[in-house]
Amino acid sequence: MGADNYNQDVSQVFRGHVFHVAGSTGLEDAKESLVAIPNGQVLVNEAGRITACGPRDDAAIPAGASIVEAPFVLPGLIDTHVHFPQLYAMDRYGGGQLLEWLDRCIFPAEARLADPAYGAVAAADFTDALARAGTTCALVFGSQFPVAQEALFHALSARGLRAIVGRTSMVLGPEALTTSIAENLRQCRDEIDRWHPAPDDLEESLLRAALIPRFALSFDQDGLRAFGELWEEMRERNVHFSTHLSENARPGDGEVAQVLATFGVEAYLDVYASFLSERSVFAHAVHCTDAEYTRLAAAGCGIAHCPTSQLFLGSGTMPMRRVRDHGVRMGLGTDWGAGDDDSIAQVANASAKVHGGADHPTSLHPAELLHLATLGGARVLRLDHRIGNLDAGKDADLVLVDPGRHPPLARRLSRIGAETTDDASVLFALLMGMGRDTIARTVVRGRTVYEADTR
Ligand code: GUN
Ligand code: ZN
Repeated sequence: MGADNYNQDVSQVFRGHVFHVAGSTGLEDAKESLVAIPNGQVLVNEAGRITACGPRDDAAIPAGASIVEAPFVLPGLIDTHVHFPQLYAMDRYGGGQLLEWLDRCIFPAEARLADPAYGAVAAADFTDALARAGTTCALVFGSQFPVAQEALFHALSARGLRAIVGRTSMVLGPEALTTSIAENLRQCRDEIDRWHPAPDDLEESLLRAALIPRFALSFDQDGLRAFGELWEEMRERNVHFSTHLSENARPGDGEVAQVLATFGVEAYLDVYASFLSERSVFAHAVHCTDAEYTRLAAAGCGIAHCPTSQLFLGSGTMPMRRVRDHGVRMGLGTDWGAGDDDSIAQVANASAKVHGGADHPTSLHPAELLHLATLGGARVLRLDHRIGNLDAGKDADLVLVDPGRHPPLARRLSRIGAETTDDASVLFALLMGMGRDTIARTVVRGRTVYEADTR
């Protein structure tokens, strides 16, 4: 597939209260790098690139530019872990933790995508849900069914969203979702050949493919070894890798216990030893040892942190500060299906709650929450040279937020604005209160991919 090219034909100016975490900073420096411009503007050229971000200045606006005003302008939200075939999965009470929930709720839900008509509707709904939530870029665990995957890639491409997508491969599990190792490899290869851009198009393409074995328990030793060999080949082509890691530590029969027993390893991460790279993203990593976090950091891997999902499945709390202090890159994931909110802002809200006091006496700073939701995700996906903040030179992936769509939030913010000029307080109230219903417009590389109805 060639490079996508979704550019507006005119230059644009997005005006409002601008917040972003500038530069290429890690989470530890988010606070110092927070940029807040109460009366700001972001200039975007015809190619969808940001040319300037600063205070409102009429003189800087190119002739003929289209001017869009909104209460707040933020970088696009980045979802580093979401499951396409779980879109309609919250339809049944399963009880239990991860492994029971997979059997009772998720595998039946994912099997329904065998029906091409159902898959096509799901692809359209999923793409729409991302754009409405203000998500401009997502790492997506896809369907096992090629026809549903084809529908998803087409829907994302037509909408103009940025995404990294891979089929969720399984050798072991329910018959409806599994195939032989050879057939799994063939389908992964086909999907990557079809949708991953050629080297010359890689930089400009909005869509990329990923290699995604579901998790260790969906494989035996031979299966993981075969995927390791395919990965050796695919990493040369800058394909991403993703899977689940160390999510459920129930003693005796939980996920971690079963992985250690089945594969005869001392640490969960040992089973993924051939998959550690700068383009490898591990979802959860809640119960890793210090040695595992050290290995993840040394290899440049990222963690998709999914607190709403961890609350829902009783998976525990990832030790945020320990992970940060080990230098592992972190972004946020809705883990939709297990997470019950498709808004990354609401996942940031959950981060504020679970990490306030969990392993540290003070809560996360609003700049850290914004970092996790935007630049942190871009760093995990190794796309931070293109997206993640509003620095000049980056692609214009941004969201316009209108708290007026939820009047109590608007009134709270205007009262804060009247009482203080403290940027952190305004940003905190905004991030804690904003969700899908307050997104006024979602923009990817200058192109509007969602605009709320004007009331
Ligand atoms: N581990 C293996 N599969 C899944 C899944 O679909 N969701 C979550 N949260 N964890 C998993
Ligand atoms: Zn998941």
